[in-house]
Amino acid sequence: MEAGTISETLTNLKYKLNGIVPETELIVKAEIAYEINRLKKEKNAVILGHNYMEPALFFSIPDHVGDSLGLARIAAETDADRIVFCGVRFMAETAKILNPDRMVLLPAKVAGCSLAASITAQDVRELKAKYPGIPVVTYINTYADVKAETDVCCTSSNASEIVRKLDSDSVICLPDEFLAQNIARETGKKVIYPGSERSGRDDMVIWDGRCEVHEKFTVDDIERTRKQFPDAVVVAHPECSPEVVEASDYSGSTTAMTSFVKASDAKRFLILTECSMGDNIAAENPDKEMLRMCSIRCPHMNEITLEDTLKCLREDVYQIEVDEEIRLKAKRSLDRMLELS
Ligand code: 13P
Ligand code: SF4
Repeated sequence: MEAGTISETLTNLKYKLNGIVPETELIVKAEIAYEINRLKKEKNAVILGHNYMEPALFFSIPDHVGDSLGLARIAAETDADRIVFCGVRFMAETAKILNPDRMVLLPAKVAGCSLAASITAQDVRELKAKYPGIPVVTYINTYADVKAETDVCCTSSNASEIVRKLDSDSVICLPDEFLAQNIARETGKKVIYPGSERSGRDDMVIWDGRCEVHEKFTVDDIERTRKQFPDAVVVAHPECSPEVVEASDYSGSTTAMTSFVKASDAKRFLILTECSMGDNIAAENPDKEMLRMCSIRCPHMNEITLEDTLKCLREDVYQIEVDEEIRLKAKRSLDRMLELS
């Protein structure tokens, strides 16, 4: 995104977000976005923006937007001096693992994730001891020390592909109980996932890794929407429960969901993921209606604001660091993922 002028920044934002974000808010945000884009050039920084970023930020400052996989690929290849990650901590950490010579900055001090917080490296070591020889596939929504204990990482856009390609009938899938169940259904492989012991199978272990956003969507939400809007096409992220995914018309990563809506001839969609992404898709598809449940937000993604991104660039905060021994091990599992997908 070029710096332009404040007035050009505002014109672009108004063009994209008319009817989605009030003009008074855009006037304030355009000034901050302009200053970020100016500083970004001066400091040779690249800004990566996850699809969940709030609309005014999403459409004004990132050089690249996308899902976890797309942004990880870009982070691995950039030669900018600084990578500013407008996303959550595990994403910025992944960028640092893949590109250690660059300064990687996260605009918020914490910006966690309920999935990443649900598992430790020691948990993975214990699982490996209990199920020796079974490959461990770990969702990218984890921290570096967990990735370091892993055979291969995956994201929502390549999880089933990676699991299919592994030369093993059984796979340990961490830490998202729902994603693991969705992978099991798609691949037909025996997936050992946290929480699966509740299914009554004695070869599985208990775990409670869930996305605090996607676990809240229910089949009831879908049924009530379909009753009110029979033409609505339901699009769900694979972190939703298997029942919700099954009751939906399409499931895929945040970028896959966006592309699906764009390519579809349908005129109305129920978007079962973080609400800001519904705003961003609505802005890109003015002829289509996005039904979204804005009471369900990701508090971690919402920590990233234009104001904090400006501070981040001005002061070079908050810098992401990863212990070198852990980084090298974690990189192996990320490299394997990038090779396999
Ligand atoms: P994507 O990889 O699909 O963007 O998902 C990241 C995420 O955190 C979804 O909640
Ligand atoms: Fe984590 Fe869920 Fe937020 Fe994504 S939406 S960052 S999985 S808590």
